Amino acid sequence: MTTLVTHIARLVTNDPSLGDGTPLGLIQDAAVVIDGDRVAWVGETSKAPATDNRVDAEGRAGLPGFVDSHSHLVFAGDRTAEFNARMSGRPYSAGGIRTTVAATRAATDAELAANLDRYLAEALRQGTTTMETKSGYGLTAADESRALRVAAARTDEVTYLGAHIVAPEYADDPGAYVDLVTGPILDACAPHARWVDVFCERGAFDGDQARAVLTAGARKGLLPRIHANQLTYGPGVQLAVELGAASADHCTHLSDEDVDALAQGDTVATLLPGAEFSTRAEWPDARRLLDAGATVALASDCNPGSSFTSSVPFCVALAVRDMGMTPDEAVWAATAGGAAALRRTDVGRISPGARADLVLLDAPSHVHLAYRPGVPLVSAVWRAGHREV
Ligand code: NIG
Ligand code: FE
Repeated sequence: MTTLVTHIARLVTNDPSLGDGTPLGLIQDAAVVIDGDRVAWVGETSKAPATDNRVDAEGRAGLPGFVDSHSHLVFAGDRTAEFNARMSGRPYSAGGIRTTVAATRAATDAELAANLDRYLAEALRQGTTTMETKSGYGLTAADESRALRVAAARTDEVTYLGAHIVAPEYADDPGAYVDLVTGPILDACAPHARWVDVFCERGAFDGDQARAVLTAGARKGLLPRIHANQLTYGPGVQLAVELGAASADHCTHLSDEDVDALAQGDTVATLLPGAEFSTRAEWPDARRLLDAGATVALASDCNPGSSFTSSVPFCVALAVRDMGMTPDEAVWAATAGGAAALRRTDVGRISPGARADLVLLDAPSHVHLAYRPGVPLVSAVWRAGHREV
C-alpha cells in the first residue's frame, strides 16, 4: 500500500541534497510518499505523484522519528525517594543503581516486559521510532541475559551493560566481577545484543577495566559504546575514540584533549541532558563540541535513577535552552545524530529508501519543539510505514 502525506508546512529531511541545502534539508509545503515500510518519494506537494491513500497534514511540521540512542528500560522498582533526597541537596551517585538491581532481580519476566512496553509506548507517543535499550540492572548471567532477551523481542538496538556497576556480591573483589562480565556473563549475553557498553566512572569501572570489557565484547562480535565522563573527568572518551566506539555517552566533563579526540575521530558525542536535569548537575557543553567539529547526538538516557524521562522533545528543549544548541542543531542531533550514534543509515532521515518513520507536529515548524517546551506537540507518527499515533 502507498500513502501520500501532503501539505507538510516544513519538513525536516536531514538530507542536504533535498530542500534548502542546510543539514536539515528543509522542504516547504512538502509531501512524502510511503510505500510499505519505506519512503518512496519526497518533494513539494504540488509535484507529488498520485497514490492510493492520501493524508492531508494541513500545515503541520514534519520530521523523521526521533532516534533515542541511549536508554535503560529493562528494570523494576522506583527511586522517587532518591530523587526527592537529591532535590533536597543530596548528590547523585552511581550507588543508587543497586536499588534498581535488587528490584529488577526480584521481578518476573512478565513484569519486566510490561514495564518495557509501557516506556516504549510512552516514547512512541512523543515521536521516538527507534530506541536503544540496555541491560545493567541484573548483574548475573541469568538476570542480564533475560533483560536482553526481553529487550531484543522489542527493539533491534540492544546493549549488554553487565559492567554497569560491580555486582553487590563482588563489592570486595571487583576484579572477580570484571572476570565474570568479560567471561561467563558475556557468553550468556552476546547472542542477544548488538552492542557492549561499560560505565567508566569513579564508583563504577576504571579505564583498564572498561578497556577489558569493551575488547572482550568486541571479540564476541559486539560493537562498543561507553558511558564516559558523566560525573568526573576520566579516560572514557579517549578510550572510546581509540577503540572506534560508535558513541561516547554523557560527555559532561571534557578536557580540551577529549574534545579534540571526538572532533577528529568517528565516535559520536551523545549528550543526555535529562541526566543533568534530574541530578542538578552542570550541563554538557554542546556548543564547544559542535564548534570543534564533533558529531553530537541527543538521547533520553531514560532510567529510574538519573533521568526518568522518555521524552526526546524535552531533551531537545533543554539542549537549546542550556547547552548552546540552536533548535536546528538539536533536532538534527535527536534524529540524524542518534542514527549516527547507532551506525544506522536507514533511520533519522526522510529521503527515498529510508525507513518510513515520520512525525507530524501540531506546530508550523520543528523549532516549536524548543519554543513550546512541555507541550505535547506530536500529532501523528508513522513507524516503518505503519500509522502508530
Ligand atoms: O546513564 N550512568 C550510569 N547509568 C545511568 C544511571 C543509572 C541509574 O542511576 O540507575 C546513566 O545515567
Ligand atoms: Fe545511561
